Amino acid sequence: IKLRKFVDELPIPYTLSPKKRSYNSSYYEVTMKEFSQKLHRDLGPTRLWGYEGTFPGPTFDVMKHETVFVKWMNNLPNKHFLPVDTTIHGSEITLPEGRTVVHLHGGRTPAHSDGYPEAWFTRNFEQTGPLFEREIYAYPNMERATMLWYHDHTVGITRLNVYAGLAGCYFIRDNHEQSLNLPNGTYEIPLVIVDRSFNPDGSLYYPSKPDQNVAGLPHPSLVSPFDADTILVNGKVFPYLDVEPRKYRFRMLNASNSRILTLKMDSNQPFYQIGTDGGFLETTVKLNEFILMSAERVDLIIDFSQYYGQTMILKNITKSASPETTDVMQFRVTVPLKGTDTSSLPYYLGPIVRLQSSMAKRTRYLTLVRIKDQYGRSLNLLDGKMWMDRISERMEVDTVEIWRIINIIDDDPHPIHLHLVDFQILDRQPFDVSHFQKTGKLIFTGPPVPPHPYERGFKDTVGTPFGYVTSIIARFGPFTGRYVWHCHMLEHEDYEMMRPMEVFKAPG
Ligand code: C2O
Ligand code: CU
Repeated sequence: IKLRKFVDELPIPYTLSPKKRSYNSSYYEVTMKEFSQKLHRDLGPTRLWGYEGTFPGPTFDVMKHETVFVKWMNNLPNKHFLPVDTTIHGSEITLPEGRTVVHLHGGRTPAHSDGYPEAWFTRNFEQTGPLFEREIYAYPNMERATMLWYHDHTVGITRLNVYAGLAGCYFIRDNHEQSLNLPNGTYEIPLVIVDRSFNPDGSLYYPSKPDQNVAGLPHPSLVSPFDADTILVNGKVFPYLDVEPRKYRFRMLNASNSRILTLKMDSNQPFYQIGTDGGFLETTVKLNEFILMSAERVDLIIDFSQYYGQTMILKNITKSASPETTDVMQFRVTVPLKGTDTSSLPYYLGPIVRLQSSMAKRTRYLTLVRIKDQYGRSLNLLDGKMWMDRISERMEVDTVEIWRIINIIDDDPHPIHLHLVDFQILDRQPFDVSHFQKTGKLIFTGPPVPPHPYERGFKDTVGTPFGYVTSIIARFGPFTGRYVWHCHMLEHEDYEMMRPMEVFKAPG
């Protein structure tokens, strides 16, 4: 259904307070609930699942090196309100549908608190998954200052739980960030961008089968991927934001299941990007547009000081976007300046330690392939392996590795995400796909392409386009244990495009 654009004001998720705080730690409790929320003036209220009964969930705002304990609690019904495909591994009909487990995306988290997909739990921890370990998670927050996000990660139903609303922001602050004098307080705003579709009664629409009716499909059947037809920011459909003629800092996140965003201002004014997934860039990058795939974040400043009285739209210019989804939100520079803007837009942001290829102990070649399942649906795999296949990515703790991701799936790029680490993108290099398919050998057809200017910092998710080898470099540590890496298109992740990985301590 078609909804009037720019009639609702952008909401700002509230910041969560800890239940207890001591010198260097804090303790939070967060409950997942079913609730209803108005997502648009002419809609709803819409039934959702969310942390503390809001969508997006409340924001964490914590200091670097503060140990944050969170008791994630499940108070959800046993039955899902979105269509569960019980033919998918980990989502079998015998399992309770109200399963959840929480992952802090981008966090350097001990394995016991990373939200392993099989560490799920139901209401009041009544039932737990095979790898469930603990009720209270611990986050050491040793990352550089940045915005992480937390979301559901349950094997086989992540796409449904996140679509239902289980996602929120998580800021880590440090003294260096404070010294940069960036716009802050009400002038620093998270923008959680998602797509959703609605039924006429305001309820969420999620397809229960693919568009073309193929005989013999299970019902419900997974679709892969799914792009919805409406864009929401911070839980409102095509919202507007009234701003003063001054600088604002926006922390953008694409929390869509699968949608690829290409963001641009229709006023053609630049974005001044200061950070990536993993914190500040070395120097500020001036951008006119950039791509944001599922789970990617950018930290940027928009300067409205020359635009008093004007209205502009943040556009999504991705080629495949429908006319409806080419708009994201509107800015109205209508609020008189409350005081002089004394915040800075620094050029130099701080050093970034680059990992050198020569530091790598090992280079892995990992191929993204597509096959068909028994029903004729496509099945995207990491290096041709299924979730339950033996662990092949085993890294010695604190060693550096290069991963070269070879994509031979002729389709949109896949956003590949690794848990535990921040990596750097080395380059992307085009190769002869058909020769590779015939011989398994790489013949490059052009020089390596350096990462986009807006990707030249720490990343935890990387776009891997078809016909390219995308090379990343990371140091695996400091924790050991079982983690995962996967495609962040949640429909792919849920259907086998996820693999365990293990960081181990060498004996002796
Ligand atoms: Cu944002 Cu493994 O996920
Ligand atoms: Cu994918």
